[in-house]
Amino acid sequence: MTLKKSITIAIDGPAGSGKSTIAKILANKYKMTYLDTGAMYRMVTYYFLENQINLKEKINILEILKNIHVDIVGDKFYINGKDVSEEIRTPKVTGLVSEVAAIKEVREKLVELQREISKGKKTILDGRDIGTVVFPKADLKIYLIASPEERARRRVEDYKNKGIENENFQDVLDAIIKRDFLDSTREESPLKKANDAIEIDSSKMNAQEVCDIISKYIDEIEV
Ligand code: DC
Repeated sequence: MTLKKSITIAIDGPAGSGKSTIAKILANKYKMTYLDTGAMYRMVTYYFLENQINLKEKINILEILKNIHVDIVGDKFYINGKDVSEEIRTPKVTGLVSEVAAIKEVREKLVELQREISKGKKTILDGRDIGTVVFPKADLKIYLIASPEERARRRVEDYKNKGIENENFQDVLDAIIKRDFLDSTREESPLKKANDAIEIDSSKMNAQEVCDIISKYIDEIEV
């Protein structure tokens, strides 16, 4: 199987719909670069928390953003040289990330970076606005959904696997519903399905089943 030299696949959808799991499997199968754009918003959020930047105060976002240098090496994420791959997944960061991701200047900086990283490559990106804003002409757009309950169940399991045990199902479900609301109602690039995206409901499917469906579409893009 040889894919075009440069190809862009967008996987958008709400929190916990399985985007990153699916994107990683497909990236590996088709030898594509995988870009987790949610992690980039998480990195900026982590920086805000670490530096006690209060979003409710009047702040000069552009000045702050100038101090943030983001590096992605494989599945490791660095801010100003510090590996924050684990720190960006904590409930604390998760609790604030939707607010940070709603800031226009933050989005502009990260979208530019996402386009730069993907340039001339075979890339699969997951996020909320990849098919609508970052790459409106992507070769393939997938909109992955799952019920809030199933997504919460997956998140609790994820937390357990990472040794974070004190997150109960109801709290995680409430947080997911809140994040869905914030992500889909914000003014800047809200979470929504692109008109030409293929919607897949993963609630009752395992990762391999979802990948098998998407693979059929990828194989059609071909050469
Ligand atoms: O996919 P995730 O849960 O790691 O994403 C974290 C947050 O970042 C999510 O609440 C919305 C935001 N996000 C975004 O606004 N745009 C993207 N392309 C990716 C994530």
